[in-house]
Amino acid sequence: MRMTDERSSVRVTAMCGIVGYVGGRPALSIVLDGLRRLEYRGYDSAGVAVVEDGTVLTQKKAGKLANLEKALAEAADPGIAAGPTGIGHTRWATHGGPTDRNAHPHVSQDGNVAVIHNGIIENFSRLRAELEATGVEFASDTDTECAAHLLAGEVRALRESGLADGPELLAEGMRRTVRRLEGAFTLLAIDVRVPDAVVAARRNSPLVVGRGNGENFLASDVSAFIEYTRDAIELGQDQVVLITPAGIEITGFDGSPQEGKEFHIDWDASAAEKGGYDYFMLKEIAEQPQAIADTLLGRLSDRGEIVLDEVRLTDQDLRDVDKIFIIACGTSYNAGMVAKYAIEHWVRLPCEVELASEFRYRDPILDRSTLVIVISQSGETMDTLMALRHAKEQKARVLAICNTNGSTIPRESDAVLYTHGGPEIAVASTKAFLTQLVACYLIGLHLAQVRGVMYADEVAAVVEKLQSTPDSLRGLLDSMEDVRALGRDLKTASTVLFIGRHVGYPVALEGALKLKELAYMHAEGFAAGELKHGPIALIDQGTPVVCVVPSPAGRGVMRDKVVSNIQEVRARGARTIVIAEEGDDDVAAFADHLIRVPATPTLLAPLMTTVPLQILACEIASARGHDVDQPRNLAKSVTVE
Ligand code: G6P
Repeated sequence: MRMTDERSSVRVTAMCGIVGYVGGRPALSIVLDGLRRLEYRGYDSAGVAVVEDGTVLTQKKAGKLANLEKALAEAADPGIAAGPTGIGHTRWATHGGPTDRNAHPHVSQDGNVAVIHNGIIENFSRLRAELEATGVEFASDTDTECAAHLLAGEVRALRESGLADGPELLAEGMRRTVRRLEGAFTLLAIDVRVPDAVVAARRNSPLVVGRGNGENFLASDVSAFIEYTRDAIELGQDQVVLITPAGIEITGFDGSPQEGKEFHIDWDASAAEKGGYDYFMLKEIAEQPQAIADTLLGRLSDRGEIVLDEVRLTDQDLRDVDKIFIIACGTSYNAGMVAKYAIEHWVRLPCEVELASEFRYRDPILDRSTLVIVISQSGETMDTLMALRHAKEQKARVLAICNTNGSTIPRESDAVLYTHGGPEIAVASTKAFLTQLVACYLIGLHLAQVRGVMYADEVAAVVEKLQSTPDSLRGLLDSMEDVRALGRDLKTASTVLFIGRHVGYPVALEGALKLKELAYMHAEGFAAGELKHGPIALIDQGTPVVCVVPSPAGRGVMRDKVVSNIQEVRARGARTIVIAEEGDDDVAAFADHLIRVPATPTLLAPLMTTVPLQILACEIASARGHDVDQPRNLAKSVTVE
């Protein structure tokens, strides 16, 4: 199996922090303040660039922002400290080694232009080859650097055609540059001959403008400039924005005048790191549509093949596979349970899911034709790592799904698919789970295609459905007020049960796990059909039972069976909280509380049905007065067995 050349060496920066400033004060300290507030977005490297006295001065360093600050202090360059126009970047690499050389900003070969970037330029290798053919020498492995060279070239051409130096020249250069880019990006740039402007472009990556008095700001989110102004402008897609001390000008990529949406920020700097949310967990729940979109970005090659990140296996290796084990812990294990249904259905191979801590102690039968899929958000969970090593000792092939670039689990695996979920700060996993599901679906589709059990157009049809989930999810997240009210209402419950069938069963497990983790309540998830074999004895008058109903558009019989199970618990006094898709009207009669989710193909439904359960757990926990982000006794990354 190959990687397509578009991704083979690109250093992807899926989630980074970006700041730009222009005004009367020294830019550096304002940019560094902003980066400090954005550091939660990534801390693999950081860098700044300032225009001062006809030059672009930069400083950049691998590692946390503190490394950059130390380097700046050591250099003690009065120019960089004084310049009134600057940009800064904090990076979270999703694959590829984070180094000084790959840190942003990237400066064009002529030294005139500095650029920072968040996102992925998908046609990067083609552009790089074109630029190299004209004699440009690249100083990094990043996709971003080609934007710097392209912009410098466009600005040069505009100057040569007679356009006078000034902010407008930089804006037009940026518009011409972004028209050549494919993918997702926020780009910020400064130019040595335009000392009083920062230009930015946005497509599918975050960017907001801060409106100050005689000064203006750009950032990935408002927390970066909230100390200086609370007046902000939200940008639309495919817009270029030019900030100068005197004003803000927004245009489309074609140059047409456009407007942003002005808004006032009504929270203060202390809430800033959390983007205005009370908890990181709420913020991360809200980020899920974007996290899914980022995980899907660039995954389908021109030939309709699924693209993995790091591959040290051949297609033939994958064709030889006769059995799959999925191994993980906690939430990642629940994602693996969903994957089993999808993989067995699409790939038609036997697939077992196993808790990492149990796996090797039962002498699993593995050999060269076994594929072991390990799932880990952190990439450092010791139980999972030990299971991986055991699998490798038995000569099995190992494919990792991971959210953390450069961590141990992907390093020791034969192939990797990174979830581009961005850093997850809250201990209880939310966006990592949904992006793991997406990664599992992609791997299932990839295996099915390589093994010839699905056609490229069938794969593309599922990918298209996946691509529509971020929008559906945004709608769902906007309609969660009733779920929050229900959460507050349930704060005194002593036990909550969760039931589901098929992929709804792992969703029930995940819903119960979230509640245990956050609210310290007795919560259990069951296969709905299994309830009658024992656990139904737990049900008493008023016991809340969350029921995940399969889509009637899938196997109708499965949905009907769950409806029967709901009736069974209701007849014994349960208070039913029913999660069902829009249009399934018959279930309403059995629901004390009905939570609607958008209709989604059966196997993909967990991308919707899990979300109300995350919110429910979060709300119950905060109503009970718990620290939602750091629940007692837990750790984000468990590096002991
Ligand atoms: C810990 C965390 C869980 C997580 C599990 C697996 O127990 O508290 O939230 O699901 O580890 O972590 P991983 O990083 O391997 O996905």
